[in-house]
Amino acid sequence: MKKICVWVCVIGLFITGCSKTNEEIESRNSTAGGGTTTTCDTVNMKYAANIQSIIQANCYSCHGNGNAEGGISLDTYNKLQQRASTGLLLNVITHATGYPAMPYQKARLSDCDINKIRDWVNRGYQNN
Ligand code: HEC
Repeated sequence: MKKICVWVCVIGLFITGCSKTNEEIESRNSTAGGGTTTTCDTVNMKYAANIQSIIQANCYSCHGNGNAEGGISLDTYNKLQQRASTGLLLNVITHATGYPAMPYQKARLSDCDINKIRDWVNRGYQNN
């Protein structure tokens, strides 16, 4: 009689242990599935369609609309292209050492925006 009791207890613990593990796995899965998935399209980025709006939103307050902080304006394709062609544009937005980090004294652009600009630069910073 005692032996049966021990077995019942052992099997009972075993089942409880297993079901708990399953619960944990399920909750982990549902967290992963329920999370918001953000996608970032960084392929074939074009100046007019993709890049200008990022620069406008984050840089024109100091480098556009008549503002030229640091003597730099970025509000036309030609002006932006000048800074892109030397590598300066990517260096300041990626906060590379030795360059003033942009946007000045503000948070870095999102990785998504940085990757879009990088793609445009790497494709030859075209006026497209
Ligand atoms: C709040 C104002 C402000 C904003 C917003 C801003 N900048 Fe600047 N920017 C400055 C100032 C001030 C300087 C001069 C800093 C220095 O020389 O140390 C500067 C300098 C620069 C330079 C020249 C760096 C050099 O070494 O000559 C570039 C390129 C530049 N900014 C690009 C950008 C870009 C791209 C953005 C948007 C992602 C941006 N900035 C947003 C204020 C700003």
